[in-house]
Amino acid sequence: MENAKLQLNGKTYDLPAFAGSENEVALDISKLRAQSGAITYDPGYGNTGSCKSAITFIDGDLGILRYRGYPIEQLAEHSTFSETAYLLIYGELPNKETLRRFREDLAHSSFIHEKMVRLLDHFPLNAHPMGVLASLVAAMATFYPNHGDEDQMDTHVRRLLGGVKTIAAYSYKQSIGAPFVYPKRDLGYCANLLWLLFGTPAEDYVVSPILDRAMNTLLILHADHEQNCSTSTVRMAGSSQADIYSSVSAGIGALSGPLHGRANQEVIEMLEMIQADGGNYKKYVDLAKKKDSNFRLMGFGHRVYKNFDPRAKIIKKTADEVLTALGVRDPLLEVAKGLEEVALHDDFFIERKLYPNVDFYSGIIYRAMGFPVNMFTALFAIGRMPGWIAHWMEMRKDPDGRIHRPRQIYTGPTERAYPNGKTPRA
Ligand code: COA
Repeated sequence: MENAKLQLNGKTYDLPAFAGSENEVALDISKLRAQSGAITYDPGYGNTGSCKSAITFIDGDLGILRYRGYPIEQLAEHSTFSETAYLLIYGELPNKETLRRFREDLAHSSFIHEKMVRLLDHFPLNAHPMGVLASLVAAMATFYPNHGDEDQMDTHVRRLLGGVKTIAAYSYKQSIGAPFVYPKRDLGYCANLLWLLFGTPAEDYVVSPILDRAMNTLLILHADHEQNCSTSTVRMAGSSQADIYSSVSAGIGALSGPLHGRANQEVIEMLEMIQADGGNYKKYVDLAKKKDSNFRLMGFGHRVYKNFDPRAKIIKKTADEVLTALGVRDPLLEVAKGLEEVALHDDFFIERKLYPNVDFYSGIIYRAMGFPVNMFTALFAIGRMPGWIAHWMEMRKDPDGRIHRPRQIYTGPTERAYPNGKTPRA
């Protein structure tokens, strides 16, 4: 491929061009500042490739998403969350025996240190599960040291995957004052999650196969999404050689924002508001278009997808199936469909290519399954864990890897003298 040429102040600079395995073209500007003094400006990194990665491929124009080459539609239909997690982290689908051992390991590592369980007592009862999750995942670094040892890495990976669901479930149980139950070694990953969330020591809770399958589908859909805000945060933190627990904890913090993971909670709150206001979809679509309104259609739009988010298509179908199978009639599903219909035919949304994203229908399924809204983002975090881990591990082995340290264009005051003697120090 030919190098690109950049002209600046009468000089020409060569920018090496290269392509990925799906022919996406990139210009290497890493030497540009040293050669010309100029940096590139790209707020929000919408046009910046921060790394080469072999984990996930997205074509936002065509609505394609693949993990390690496998289309998301096929994984959602045929795989389980444990198998997909293994695929993302280790690069290949496991054989039957490897998968059996991996599942066993995950069940085993769902037991968290008793002292960590006691830490939960010190959070307020109404603590948001995302805050609890970020804190306890960071605390795992102190309970499970030796994170620099390469031969311990598989153990840390399993502890994170197994532990995160127990911490999330216990934070929920704590918030409603319900007793904790221990994980069960004979249950698969999602069945164990449901047991930890809804099981009680007093009565037998049998995990519904419908809920188990729906949970698997939802977590698979959330498992990775290349360089999104939280994953970039994990890579950014990890680039300083911070340990995997601290890096993932930073990612959980990033995911908790309403423009990222918390959008699923915000969608339900928005749908409830629209329903309470008489279900006038058009009024809210119009409001979302007003520049000064500060209101956005939550669950709509995406930085990369300029077409239907392929995950949203699967989730919409799953929502219909789960609600029918559970015999739930949720009026919010009708509000969501009505809103989508109006928005998809509105010029503002058409011109900006704003389609429903993964968060638009996921909350409706979570509601039908019995989750309170403040647990939605924690479920997203459990799903995203394999992606964060896979990226953190890939980043460490990256031959081009360096500490992440973007540049800036300074726009503050130029040098000025401190008003010596005139302003007393506080
Ligand atoms: N509702 C109304 N307008 C929206 C919108 C939404 N949900 N999302 C984007 N837009 C509009 C913006 O106002 C902007 O319009 P303009 O060109 O007239 O200024 C244009 O579309 C581009 O939006 P921008 O914020 O620059 O896109 P982005 O790539 O920076 O942001 C999101 C992407 C996802 C943060 C954004 O679409 C959003 O806030 N969506 C709602 C939150 C959400 O669902 N997040 C979950 C993502 S999986």
